[in-house]
Amino acid sequence: MQMDLKQTSPKPTEEDKTLDQTLRPKIWEEYVGQEKVKRNLRVIIEAAKKRKEPVEHLLFYGGTGLGKTTLSYIIANEIGVNLRITSGPAIEKAGDLAAILTNLSEGDVLFIDECHRINKICEELLYPAMEDYKLNLILGRGPMANTMEIKIPRFTFIGATTRIALLSSPLRSRFGATFQLDFYEIEDIERIIQRSSRILGVQTTPDAIKIIAKRSRFTPRVANRLLKRVRDFAQVEGKGEITKEIVESALGFLEIDEEGLESGDRRILEVIIKKFEGGPAGLQALAAATSEEEDTILEIYEPYLMQLGFIERTPRGRTATKLAYQHLGMKYPGQNALL
Ligand SMILES: Nc1ncnc2c1ncn2[C@@H]1O[C@H](COP(=O)(O)OP(=O)(O)OP(=O)(O)O)[C@@H](O)[C@H]1O
Ligand SMILES: [Mg+2]
Repeated sequence: MQMDLKQTSPKPTEEDKTLDQTLRPKIWEEYVGQEKVKRNLRVIIEAAKKRKEPVEHLLFYGGTGLGKTTLSYIIANEIGVNLRITSGPAIEKAGDLAAILTNLSEGDVLFIDECHRINKICEELLYPAMEDYKLNLILGRGPMANTMEIKIPRFTFIGATTRIALLSSPLRSRFGATFQLDFYEIEDIERIIQRSSRILGVQTTPDAIKIIAKRSRFTPRVANRLLKRVRDFAQVEGKGEITKEIVESALGFLEIDEEGLESGDRRILEVIIKKFEGGPAGLQALAAATSEEEDTILEIYEPYLMQLGFIERTPRGRTATKLAYQHLGMKYPGQNALL
């Protein structure tokens, strides 16, 4: 089923990882948009620098591809410390975490992606590490077990998650500040495409940038990926320059419509409209009817369809809006008008 969301799924593919690296902003000036988050972070960093203390622990949450990892790179760079990157599922045992923490240097940033997936044992080990920079290790088993306290360097923990609701509240409460990354303004996505075009050394006309931006799900990673796809088309079918015509033919070929929807998105809308008579459709029922994972619906499809105003979430489930019917060229039934 992943097939359907190949081009516009904000989740990183193997190919994206290289692209992410090439295009990832390294300083504040390059990080487009999210002005409020940037302003607050700069204050927090400056204040910590003045106090000569490590920056407090930070939590970033928001959809995939919106710039959480990028922020952690910039922060470490800005403070002038090392960045150690790992992820919740990668830390399997208490020993793994202990090894990471004891190997940090004073002031380093430890970035843990998908921090809602840190296992319970490791999470509990993190609490005193975050609060008092110490590790309480249990040595041995049963009645002979002993605890050992180890001091670790003062560090900054940056956690990132796409699913804030799955984060335990004890962990959540130990972050000094929490930031939500939201979808980008369309003008910001245009600026990101401009910047990426420059870095990739490809000529892109202003109207071509506008069209790519509009179909990028308000998400930097998707914008960069579409730009790269379109560049390939421009090289093969055109003279290398990315023009409006090239973009339209490339994105048409890739079946990405004017609103950035792919067949997977459209199928969700169609199922709500046809199978559930416009809704409400519960998450489980919708997942079963579309053969999609519930998580994929929650994390990928739904946020964007809601952002466009194509679906609404009610306590009883998802409903398709008039805009969704119009987008699919279907007649909006009058009796649902009051929903
Ligand atoms: N504010 C921004 N300005 C310019 N480019 C950005 C910005 N945010 C993200 N990008 C681009 O999008 C790519 C993806 O961003 P990033 O890896 O930080 O997302 P993420 O939120 O960590 O996603 P995931 O949840 O999948 O880990 C980056 O490599 C970068 O090129
Ligand atoms: Mg990331």
